[in-house]
Amino acid sequence: MKTYGIIGNPLGHSFSKQYFTEKFQTEKIDAQFLNFEIPKIEEIQDIIKNNPTLKGLCVTIPYKEEVMTYLDEIDPLAKEIGAVNSIQIRRKGGQIHLKGYNTDIYGFGESLSDFIKEEKPKALILGTGGASKAVATALKNQSIDFISVSRKQIESSISYQDLSKDIISKHKLIINCTPLGTFPKTDTCPDLNYNLISQDHFLYDLVYNPSTTLFMSKGIEQGSKTHNGLKMLHLQAEKSWEIWNE
Ligand SMILES: NC(=O)c1ccc[n+]([C@@H]2O[C@H](COP(=O)([O-])OP(=O)(O)OC[C@H]3O[C@@H](n4cnc5c(N)ncnc54)[C@H](OP(=O)(O)O)[C@@H]3O)[C@@H](O)[C@H]2O)c1
Repeated sequence: MKTYGIIGNPLGHSFSKQYFTEKFQTEKIDAQFLNFEIPKIEEIQDIIKNNPTLKGLCVTIPYKEEVMTYLDEIDPLAKEIGAVNSIQIRRKGGQIHLKGYNTDIYGFGESLSDFIKEEKPKALILGTGGASKAVATALKNQSIDFISVSRKQIESSISYQDLSKDIISKHKLIINCTPLGTFPKTDTCPDLNYNLISQDHFLYDLVYNPSTTLFMSKGIEQGSKTHNGLKMLHLQAEKSWEIWNE
């Protein structure tokens, strides 16, 4: 039986185990999916050694960046983003080769194209964490101009206070890459003047639990189009599956 898994800490509410376990059942795949909740990234070495049937790993918070030093090869896109969320494990004649990928960029890019169709609105990326980097690279690949918005005073971004009427009206795509609105804190959302949102805006929330976040509800009230992070999550998981079994 083949083995797949996820490394991260904590993994209590991880989506991956449930997703892949259901996939194996419905598609009658002889495989298991294991959670490896590890307090230190170094433990990846023992996991690889002690699980000889392991073919692929998801990587989640807080190891998407740290894990890169343990890999033999990194896909150029993951290198550009600076984060790996999927590892392909190849074993040949006692040799092990670990290659890191970032499938968030694929999940976001594909789901965004479905959402905005042929339009190329300028974008605001809210938050500057790991996911925002994959989003920024996906936007660059689709030739969509964007500005990052952060609580921090950093040169590469503007602040929430800078989000004037003019900026909001010129940036019709707004992407929430912060955890605000995630269950159980569902009454939180990014600090925008939502009255400035119009029916021409697209609000994309990377958060998927709940399926309609407060950020989305506020957009819907203004007549804007909205999208949650569930499709991205499924697309990145399926892309990992493809990579692990190449
Ligand atoms: N749908 C999917 O497939 C998918 C994939 C990856 C991630 N996600 C979701 O995307 C969200 C971000 O993930 P991540 O890995 O990038 O997280 P992260 O590394 O923790 O970064 C989140 C960023 O959000 C901002 N932020 C954090 N707390 C905030 C607060 N209280 N108020 C305002 N801004 C805040 C921060 O940016 P500043 O310090 O610059 O303000 C932070 O860097 C999470 O909810 C995650 O579940 C979804």
